[in-house]
Amino acid sequence: MGCQSNNATPPAPAIAPGVESIDPFRAAAEIGARGVDPRLPVLVPGFDAPFFQAGLAGYSDAAMRLVARRHGCPMCVTEALLDRTLLSGGRGFARADLGEIHDNVPGGREDHPLVGQIMGSDPETMADAAAAMIERNAQEHAGFEAIDVNLACPVRKIARKARGGHWLREPEGAIDILRAVREAVPSHIPTSVKLRRGSDDSPEAERNFLRIFDAAYDLGYAWTTVHGRTVEQKYVGPSRWTFLRDLVRRNPDRLIFGSGDVWRVEDVFLMLAYTGVHAVSVARGCIGNPWVFRQARDMMAGLPPRPPTLAEQRDALRAHFELSVSVNGEQAAGKMMRKFGIRFAQHHPRPEDVKRAFIGVTCTEEWMRALDAHYPTGDEAAAGVVHAVERA
Ligand SMILES: Cc1cc2nc3c(=O)[nH]c(=O)nc-3n(C[C@H](O)[C@H](O)[C@H](O)COP(=O)(O)O)c2cc1C
Repeated sequence: MGCQSNNATPPAPAIAPGVESIDPFRAAAEIGARGVDPRLPVLVPGFDAPFFQAGLAGYSDAAMRLVARRHGCPMCVTEALLDRTLLSGGRGFARADLGEIHDNVPGGREDHPLVGQIMGSDPETMADAAAAMIERNAQEHAGFEAIDVNLACPVRKIARKARGGHWLREPEGAIDILRAVREAVPSHIPTSVKLRRGSDDSPEAERNFLRIFDAAYDLGYAWTTVHGRTVEQKYVGPSRWTFLRDLVRRNPDRLIFGSGDVWRVEDVFLMLAYTGVHAVSVARGCIGNPWVFRQARDMMAGLPPRPPTLAEQRDALRAHFELSVSVNGEQAAGKMMRKFGIRFAQHHPRPEDVKRAFIGVTCTEEWMRALDAHYPTGDEAAAGVVHAVERA
């Protein structure tokens, strides 16, 4: 699916020169005491903490978003939806390798604030898609608090036309898209853009990035989210936090969010403290790990990040499954939840056994059986709590 790739094994935490000297607990408490940049909740009501759930194609549907929110996530971004998919109501693009239309529909009253992300190849179509998204705001809880333009996705071009991160090689075309979308969206609705630090490591790529980055703010974009990898890198190798830090230093008045190599809750505060970004996008680090958001809020309150008990893991898995069934239908939910189950297993005292159990699942009944077998209720769960805490 779309922007996804090599996402199975979290590598060691990101290290940029000097990161190791930062105490994430101290940084979190300081950030907690200072509070979020006051512009964030003005732009997006409810955006009250300096982190959010990223768009994650194939994962971040309403079910994953709601579970994240119940664990303290203050804002979510949808996965990138191709403008043409949106305008066709999903028809004719069912096999597009990007977001499915139903994954980008807000999941009701609880699924806010929500930023809707779009991506495409043509300014007019992108503008129409942005306008169509905003039209949904007329219905209660069905709309978006902001529109994000994806200029970051590394998936190849379609029909020789640029889209996503491939626009970073064609800054004038990218700027045309940004302009068209900004003009199509009513001025009281913020627009933002997701970028990578360049198409590759060449000086020309950096110049192109800066050209688009500057133009975005000049056009009235409220913030940029910058992924510190290049398009060429896809998801391999480190996200360059030094790039983010320099960008923030050179642009002290602009709202800049950071992305890349946020695997553990500590990384949220290491990135904030090291780079100075105003908010951190949590991506692969929150798949099967909604507790990262609760832990981040705890750390901001000066509390240690607590690992989830087995009972909490069971509750989250069950809630995620039930939500996924209502969003995706039973058959698709079974498939989706297999990959989530594998990721949730990382918190279990016997992760390999749990992973094996979820990998073998083919239907809802088997999924529930795996859950019952490995996440017991009652007294057994109480014993499991001890295991989980001991392991942590
Ligand atoms: C499976 C997968 C799907 C993704 N889908 C999107 C997407 O739809 N929109 C987007 O802006 N970024 C997408 N990304 C990029 C992430 O939001 C994030 O920028 C990237 O994974 C770097 O952060 P990380 O190293 O902490 O995971 C995706 C990444 C992965 C691994």
